[in-house]
Amino acid sequence: MSDQDIVVSKDQGVLALGFNRPAKKNALTREMYAALAREISAANVDEEIGAVLVYGEGNDFTSGNDVNDFLEHPPSGDDSPVWHFLTAIREFSKPLVAAVTGRAVGVGTTMLFHCDYVIAGESSRFSMPFVNLGLVPEAGSSYLLPLIAGHHRAAELFMFGEPCSAQRGYEAGFVNEVVEDEHVAMRAGERAKQLADQPRTAMRETKRLLRQAHQPQLIAVMEEEARLFSAALESDETREAFMNFLMKKGK
Ligand code: COA
Repeated sequence: MSDQDIVVSKDQGVLALGFNRPAKKNALTREMYAALAREISAANVDEEIGAVLVYGEGNDFTSGNDVNDFLEHPPSGDDSPVWHFLTAIREFSKPLVAAVTGRAVGVGTTMLFHCDYVIAGESSRFSMPFVNLGLVPEAGSSYLLPLIAGHHRAAELFMFGEPCSAQRGYEAGFVNEVVEDEHVAMRAGERAKQLADQPRTAMRETKRLLRQAHQPQLIAVMEEEARLFSAALESDETREAFMNFLMKKGK
């Protein structure tokens, strides 16, 4: 990873983490997952940090897992960087805010279900093409999305794998606000700072209360999804789908 693939900045109690591979639509590599996991876990115990904001540099949030990286180093077991990242956001005890513009593919959408506040630009397109790629949902999304959006909307998004708009994300309940693209960064910064300024103990307890009933089930589902996902990554249909993507791109 170049040192710059994750941009880290701290301002007024907010830790901002930017995905920074715009030429690759901010596709996430193992190194990027490891850096994100490290930063989020450190922020959890850093008294100066009251909220974390994730965003994508350039026009897109992220196109999800880096396909090359996945083919070369398929994650397996609970020692993989992607697992560390997903565990870090699941266990994060402070407000987690996301600012989305453009593409949010795969984990780019599923990580939003762990966020507390999501701001989407009008250009946002959310998609979870797991089935299309011969994969299964990950990051606890098969549990969290039906909870947020209801079975039918979740089934539509997973089973067709088609992109949905910012407005549909708002109606489904995983987007809090839709704003013009040029206002996303400013609005997200404002909202994250507001959250960071709230009384810390009350905030932490509130987040814990909001999640505690679902946490054991979420952990169990994430483990099951990870097992199925790892097995599917080794399957011919998934490797073929990924190879097709790379071949179309002339790799
Ligand atoms: N992994 C690796 N590289 C990726 C990538 C990914 N997930 N997503 C995009 N890229 C790369 C492309 O290979 C291309 O690289 P190149 O310029 O060297 O050829 C560059 O980013 C731009 O992407 P491109 O596909 O040309 O942009 P687009 O606007 O036509 O399409 C997407 C955007 C996101 C729809 C398309 O790139 C895509 O489907 N990506 C794969 C998403 C995916 O399957 N994620 C994994 C889910 S588990």
